[in-house]
Amino acid sequence: MRPAFVFGTRPEIIKLAPVVRAFEERGVEPLLIHTGQHYDYEMSRVFLEELELDGIDYHLEVGSGTQAEQTGKAMVKIERVLMDERPDVVLVQGDTNTVLAGALASVKLRIPVAHVEAGLRSFDRTMPEEINRVLADHASEVLFPPTEDARRNLEREGITENVYVVGNTIVDAVLQNSEIAERKSDVLERFGLKPKGYVLITAHRAENTERGSLERLVRILEDLPMKAIYPMHPRTRRRLEEFGLWGRVGSIENLIVTKPLGYLDFLRLERNAFAVMTDSGGVQEESIILNVPCLTLRYNTERPETVKAGGNVLVGLERERAVRYLRRLMEDGEFYRRMAEAPNPFGDGKAGERIAEILLRLHERGELRVKG
Ligand code: UD1
Ligand code: UDP
Repeated sequence: MRPAFVFGTRPEIIKLAPVVRAFEERGVEPLLIHTGQHYDYEMSRVFLEELELDGIDYHLEVGSGTQAEQTGKAMVKIERVLMDERPDVVLVQGDTNTVLAGALASVKLRIPVAHVEAGLRSFDRTMPEEINRVLADHASEVLFPPTEDARRNLEREGITENVYVVGNTIVDAVLQNSEIAERKSDVLERFGLKPKGYVLITAHRAENTERGSLERLVRILEDLPMKAIYPMHPRTRRRLEEFGLWGRVGSIENLIVTKPLGYLDFLRLERNAFAVMTDSGGVQEESIILNVPCLTLRYNTERPETVKAGGNVLVGLERERAVRYLRRLMEDGEFYRRMAEAPNPFGDGKAGERIAEILLRLHERGELRVKG
């Protein structure tokens, strides 16, 4: 059995590493294909190093571009590798342009696609990620929704065969790396932060880096009632500079802005944060796993389980709402406790093992093939 992994961005590396590891533990050596959608050291290589994904077989160096440029270029390059290598299955994870390119290139060569983190829906078609998710799910032969909610989304779209609810591999990643992070990272000391004494912020989504959205984000940052740290995605930084907002961000006294951080530093920061404010999918998941209240800087989420469980509130880019919730967390201990103790809906940290077991079993039975 030879599985191939196609990935290209920070969250895909983090969430696929446990699956790669699970295959390796079962004596299977996967083919690793990195599209190069993310290419800065701190957006890619740092994770390959920390998570010990050292044997990348193909670096495709696709880089940045418009939606179609990036997806098209990745598709062409992935197809070439798949034609040469002919793996038994191609695994993709999540909803990036790399995922769509990998899924389309693969299914058209009649190589079955296994979609990790299938079935998520924000029901917001203005997001590039929503288009990618829907199309990737429909191109996939084996689907691994993390939760029952995600499975139901697939069912509503008529996808019922080879669907396995396995949990989210982010739990595996957090459990495998939390202790190491606490031991190895000196991020709190480096930035002079005290446990539970700061808010951790990330925001990078396309819809949040438009001019109007960034102006509203900056207003929130200016009004934060607590010390905060913001490891900033390169896209957000570039856009702030372009719109002349960078100076305003730099002059906020209570705010530390830094480059994106490696996983060990970021996990330690997250685990010790008083609260998290984010538009990231992975960070919404990690905060409920780590018992840290999350305020999401969006108007919808494809992780509604976190909201239902009580660990996440959608505050959008509404200054008044965001600041009000943060103040309430600071002043109302019972409210804080309820949010922090919301149960983790993403499983037990064995998703990677389940995925490897299921794919190996399907392969053994000759059922790992594109049907029809
Ligand atoms: C992509 C995903 C998003 C995911 C995110 C993870 C899509 C449509 N979006 O968004 O779902 O949440 O990755 O972080 O696939 N850039 C750099 N250095 C890099 C990478 C990017 O400077 O290493 C800058 C470039 O200016 C680039 C911009 O960031 O144009 C956006 O990068 P891109 O990969 O297109 O999308 P992300 O915002 O990273
Ligand atoms: N992350 C990181 N360093 C950072 C910001 C995020 O290691 O500076 C990790 C975070 O722990 C999570 C993942 O990156 O596991 C989330 O990636 P991102 O927010 O870029 O993408 P999304 O999850 O929104 O697709």
